[in-house]
Amino acid sequence: MRHMLDITDWSIEEINALMDQADEIIARPDDYADAMRRKKLASLFYEPSTRTRLSFEAAMIELGGHVLGFSDAGSSSASKGESVSDTVRTVGCYADIIAMRHPKEGAPTVAAQFSPVPVINAGDGGHNHPTQTLADLLTIRREKGRVDRLVVGMCGDLQFGRTVHSLMSAMSRYPEVSFVLISPEELKIPGYLRESMRRQGVPLMEVEKLEDVIPALDILYMTRVQRERFFNEADYVRLKDSYILDPDKMTLARKDLTVLHPLPRVNEISHAVDNDPRACYFKQVLNGKYMRMALILKLLEATK
Ligand code: NCD
Repeated sequence: MRHMLDITDWSIEEINALMDQADEIIARPDDYADAMRRKKLASLFYEPSTRTRLSFEAAMIELGGHVLGFSDAGSSSASKGESVSDTVRTVGCYADIIAMRHPKEGAPTVAAQFSPVPVINAGDGGHNHPTQTLADLLTIRREKGRVDRLVVGMCGDLQFGRTVHSLMSAMSRYPEVSFVLISPEELKIPGYLRESMRRQGVPLMEVEKLEDVIPALDILYMTRVQRERFFNEADYVRLKDSYILDPDKMTLARKDLTVLHPLPRVNEISHAVDNDPRACYFKQVLNGKYMRMALILKLLEATK
């Protein structure tokens, strides 16, 4: 059975096909209004979420399906000590597909081993977030007309930012993509990811100042410092405002820069940037819903 656990389990061709499907849904939404009639999506969210959970739910509803689930581990049997494997065996009796967010890295992969229905990783700890990557890729393709031949700046918390890890793993497989990593020393990408980029021969530059590199970027992917993943509050406070994208910094950037952010934002993009036509983070939110529709269609079609 097919799942969406890690973006690298899906080939570039398959990801491109999902983007084609999403474009098709955007062009003709009515054609899909009954596609998932009488099907149910369970959203099992053991960690906070606004966009990811609601976009999965909206996606299923717009396909004519239904949703059930929980948005707080405390209200589920996890609080009584139930394992993820028992929970998905149970939920698989009620639902046709499961979207799971969990604070433990790898929890959705364990779930998939026991689940009778497809499992989607909706974010696992500081590890991966493949469906955010689908939203990011569709936004890049719709804005730039391509996903290859791009200089991509990743800025902020590159150590704990799971969306960064998944997006780099996906984009590194497209030709002529290079990365400029902008972070404080303490929040650099994890070693396994640097090693994977090196093995693939992907050009990678690591800097501390956004101003130095912003003029060279096609894409700027801003991220929040992940407070909940810090061991100590003092380190968080010291690093939280390391980067703030404001209109002054935007004057240094290219006219066709695309600014992305997985959201939620805290301080890292000033609200004054929101009206700049280069700010695409709310388009990214909407694209996320369409990509999740495309993914649900694909995973449930495969189980027919
Ligand atoms: C991200 C996440 O949960 O990893 N949000 C999201 O799903 N769009 C980013 C974040 O929390 O900072």
